[in-house]
Amino acid sequence: MAYAAGVDVGSTQTKAVIIDEAGRIVGRSLMDTGANVTRAAETAFQEALRDADLLEEEVGFIVGTGYGRYKVTFGNTQVTEISCHGRGAVHMFPGTRTVVDMGGQDTKAIRVSETGEILDFCMNDKCAAGTGRFLGAASAALDIPLDELGPTALRGQRAVKISTTCTVFAESEILSWLGKGKKIEDILLGVHESIGARSAGLLRRVGVESEVTFTGGVARNVAMIETLNERLGVAVNVSEESHFMGAMGAALFALDHILASRAPASSMEHTS
Ligand SMILES: Nc1ncnc2c1ncn2[C@@H]1O[C@H](COP(=O)(O)OP(=O)(O)OP(=O)(O)O)[C@@H](O)[C@H]1O
Ligand SMILES: [Mg+2]
Repeated sequence: MAYAAGVDVGSTQTKAVIIDEAGRIVGRSLMDTGANVTRAAETAFQEALRDADLLEEEVGFIVGTGYGRYKVTFGNTQVTEISCHGRGAVHMFPGTRTVVDMGGQDTKAIRVSETGEILDFCMNDKCAAGTGRFLGAASAALDIPLDELGPTALRGQRAVKISTTCTVFAESEILSWLGKGKKIEDILLGVHESIGARSAGLLRRVGVESEVTFTGGVARNVAMIETLNERLGVAVNVSEESHFMGAMGAALFALDHILASRAPASSMEHTS
């Protein structure tokens, strides 16, 4: 049995997934990318190997993806993250036709075919508005851990209208609302609604076709799931694997290579 690996080196976090020949996840890891991108890729892969209790030699093919995919120096090839999120999402939720990937730096809207091919995609501009970094700025300004942002926002009743779309100014706008006596949960509800509105706009540019699958680290945020559900009028697919969807797609492309490399040998067996 050979195993396949995908390493998604994102601008913010690095994810590695190892799958068996049936496409089941046997090991994974997640860590901050940090300044040394090559080291993050290597460490994430080693941790996923440990998690799967496998040796490096047992992994037959490795695909790198994400913004740092060319830093996966031990990888066999690279595939864009758009393709990997599309492939991973269709594997996990076969009815997927639209994917929204919200990561640390970018939000991407992707339209896929039933086989996971990319039909169209659209991403936010260089500015990180509408993404995890904006949430990170809110988390820093309010001194609330990332994983409590969503649950806190859901307690909000009257969303504060956040007017800035720039991460650089988000912190000062949030602090000024706090100074005006607004409740933290209402400010956070406003932050999520502002990001949700911009993401929904991006999705409409590629065309929202059901089912919609939500991928990337921000899919861990319950308030963002709710906001997207409301804005889009459909319940988005989310799973435990959402944060790992790009790495999962990369691992599936790696598995294609392993299986394809065997095809000639097996067809020869049949003819002999
Ligand atoms: N436990 C958590 N709860 C809520 N949000 C989280 C959690 N963990 C991560 N996030 C969010 O996910 C973001 C990182 O997501 P992801 O790993 O998909 O980004 P990335 O792939 O590095 O970025 P990009 O795709 O833009 O290059 C963080 O910025 C944060 O906002
Ligand atoms: Mg990413």
